[in-house]
Amino acid sequence: PAGTAEPAAGRVTVGGVALAALAGEHGTPLYVLDEAEVRARCRAYRDAFPEATVLYAAKAFLCRALVRWVGEEGLGLDVCSAGELGLAVAAGLPPERMVLHGSAKSPADLRAGIEHGVGRVVIDGAAEIGRIAAAVGPTGRQRVLIRVTPGIGAGAHPKVRTATDDQHFGLSIGDGHAQHAVARVLRQPNLELTGLHCHLGSGITDARPYLVAVRRLVGLMARVRDTHGVLLPELDLGGGHGVAYRPGDPALDLPAFARRVRGALIAACASARLPVPRLLIEPGRAIVGPAGVAVYRVLAVKHTGGRTFVALDGGMSDNPRPALYGVRYAPRLVGRHSTAEPRPVTVVGRHCEAGDVLAEGVTLPADVRPGDLLALPVAGAYHLSMASTYNLVGRPPVVAVAGGTARLLVRRETLADLGARDVGR
Ligand code: LLP
Repeated sequence: PAGTAEPAAGRVTVGGVALAALAGEHGTPLYVLDEAEVRARCRAYRDAFPEATVLYAAKAFLCRALVRWVGEEGLGLDVCSAGELGLAVAAGLPPERMVLHGSAKSPADLRAGIEHGVGRVVIDGAAEIGRIAAAVGPTGRQRVLIRVTPGIGAGAHPKVRTATDDQHFGLSIGDGHAQHAVARVLRQPNLELTGLHCHLGSGITDARPYLVAVRRLVGLMARVRDTHGVLLPELDLGGGHGVAYRPGDPALDLPAFARRVRGALIAACASARLPVPRLLIEPGRAIVGPAGVAVYRVLAVKHTGGRTFVALDGGMSDNPRPALYGVRYAPRLVGRHSTAEPRPVTVVGRHCEAGDVLAEGVTLPADVRPGDLLALPVAGAYHLSMASTYNLVGRPPVVAVAGGTARLLVRRETLADLGARDVGR
């Protein structure tokens, strides 16, 4: 991942640029995105799945430069709001290359998707069928997928498991709602059902749940053919591919995953005597997570209750993942070389909660002190896209590095920005 190159005397570089120099220029907290790493990850997906449509899941992180990078690497986009869609359109990605998601699409989301002409709208519930058909109008035509839940409990945390029957995404195959929705969509003259979608969950490092999903979705495709005489040409397997947050953590092996998914799809289609549908996949975290590094400055070191706390100038406002999912990171000292003994510490954020903990049970040099810089690798996904302004702390800037140069992509949120929306008295 970006930022893990071995330091020479503490000098850690990303994309040929020293993190300490970036922190000096842009301040901290700072997010650094390695353009070459993002592009390489996009290409790894294209190489592993040359026959598939690869859609980057914009919710992991989105800005105009990123849209351009993934677009140039041949990926489309999974968007889930008028906001994501509008940003991607403004960045120049053709809407035809986008898929619109959402379990509760607002009228504005649907209108944006249909008026811009997104490639696919993913139907997430029975009540959406009529809404989408009405928004498309009698003279329009919209390609749609139906999101189904194959009853699979996969994902790194209960909060990100979305393919069981007891959560609010998709239509269940098990209770027949998926089949019923297929029948209704097929009766809509202005909706063209191109296939089925499922997104199992997030942070999955094992291919097996996907193989089960392939078999269950192909089984449903066979029933659609038997019942309606319709061959669905597309199968969208969603995203969820897990990455390692700390050295030694498991990660999804992409080439092996691609081989096994392809094998399962071909086998399932052969036994159902179905043509093999075009595959769509929607990786978010695996494209951008390992390409990002967060850089913080140490504000305080406190010894209390038998522990050493190292407090940073960011925390749960720019990275709510530890508080939400109990995820732990592997921060490291950058910008100076220390020969001090490693010592166990708890790395905490600046926010007013005991739960603002970024890393526990990690070691840092015993002489870590205020003013030091800490880098948090694998910070590219679901940090800034989920960031808040808690405690009225502005959100950090994003800098892209490539070939030894850096450029600002997103500027820091200022106190003026924060105050501007407060229009009462
Ligand atoms: N497709 C759909 C329909 C999704 O809902 C998601 C993620 C993805 C694709 C991409 O999943 P990925 O490849 O990034 O795992 N905030 C959580 C993750 C939530 C994921 C939501 N949906 C986290 O920080 O772990």
